[in-house]
Amino acid sequence: MHHFDRINGALHAEGVPLEALADAVGTPAYVYSTATLTRHYGLLADAVAAHPAALGPALIAFAVKANSNLSVLATLARLGCGADTVSEGEIRRALKAGVPANRIVFSGVGKTDAELAFAIEAGVRQINVESAIELDRLIEISSSLKQRATASRAIATPEIAIRVNPAVGAGGHAKITTGGATDKFGVPADEAHALYARASLSPHVTPVGLACHIGSQITTLEPLEVAFRALRTMTLELRAVGLTVSRLDLGGGLGVPYHGQSDLPSIEAYVAMAARVLDGLDVEAAFEPGRLLAANAGVLLSRVIQVNERGDGRRFLVLDAGMNDLMRPALYDAFHDLVPVRPREGEPRLYDLVGPICESTDVFARDRLLPPMQAGDLVAFMGAGAYGAVLASEYNSRPLVPEVLVDGDRWAVVRTRPSYEDMLDREPTADWL
Ligand code: LLP
Repeated sequence: MHHFDRINGALHAEGVPLEALADAVGTPAYVYSTATLTRHYGLLADAVAAHPAALGPALIAFAVKANSNLSVLATLARLGCGADTVSEGEIRRALKAGVPANRIVFSGVGKTDAELAFAIEAGVRQINVESAIELDRLIEISSSLKQRATASRAIATPEIAIRVNPAVGAGGHAKITTGGATDKFGVPADEAHALYARASLSPHVTPVGLACHIGSQITTLEPLEVAFRALRTMTLELRAVGLTVSRLDLGGGLGVPYHGQSDLPSIEAYVAMAARVLDGLDVEAAFEPGRLLAANAGVLLSRVIQVNERGDGRRFLVLDAGMNDLMRPALYDAFHDLVPVRPREGEPRLYDLVGPICESTDVFARDRLLPPMQAGDLVAFMGAGAYGAVLASEYNSRPLVPEVLVDGDRWAVVRTRPSYEDMLDREPTADWL
């Protein structure tokens, strides 16, 4: 569910007409709904709170990679949401947005020494270790930070989880599967046990649990359940040899209805399944949703530049948004519904939706049935709140588009559109030119 609805025929973000936003900030622009973010977080938080025995005082950590806008993060942080991060930049964003360090998880396959040191010094809740070699580096870094610590600046021993690769890949596209045996993520299950035991022997890290994340846009619960069961089994095995396992990080990955599907697992069913699998383990669960919270909370607002009609009948709707602004269709053949902000009367027609970029992959969709469209019309790509603005680039020297946050009848530009001067000023010309 989302809060982009028609009022008197025109699409609004909550109480704000998208036409007024387009006039005020120009197009393309990302527009986010506070009410939708709040609703999605609330649904997940309530579902989790319904299973206190199985899930403990669970952490919901928004996957910052899905939408790292500071105001989006601050909106979630005020609701009590934590942050799942994969870089120093994301940790800094989460902290700046008001997420307490003890609600920040640091994941990622390739954390640099500087990033690991930063995370330890920031006192993040948990570092998810993804390989044996990373564990060695982390122990080394933690130990040297402690040697340099002073009485006034003590360094806590980092709490870690071992990210297990349960060899179950899942997800809406091969390019967003992360838990398959050949994927680069996590430690194979048969190595994780020994690694956990080794970490337990070090005074410089405190292993507290296991983590997994098998993929994204997952639309059935079965693969998730297989992965969660693998974590359960491993927890029991580790405990059987006297090791402590108090947290299980279940990752993110639950899919959203981009096509308006009604057969996706509900948030309640997903959480209930997790509670069933973890029942009796007495662990604190963590969830790392990205898309689930943010996708339907955002649209990409765009204007039709022109309509190109070919002699063979093919009709191209040329938009001012391109693949550099919304990469998902070009990268993953992803579907985003396109909705005219104020549909015209008349017979619907087929359009190919394209951007202005000089690449043949700059096609958002083929053969979409839409009301008659004309130059100047406004359209909204739905479901663009996750992996939208964050994946954008300045390809073709197009400025990154602004982001707007709506809350009821009020709105604010929460990332400005850079001017061409801003863009050019970032590149000092070499002094020999
Ligand atoms: N936790 C970890 C460790 C992750 O790698 C990810 C996403 C998440 C949580 C959040 O997953 P979600 O709940 O959003 O599915 N750019 C792609 C998606 C890439 C997801 C990468 N990892 C897309 O636009 O579909």
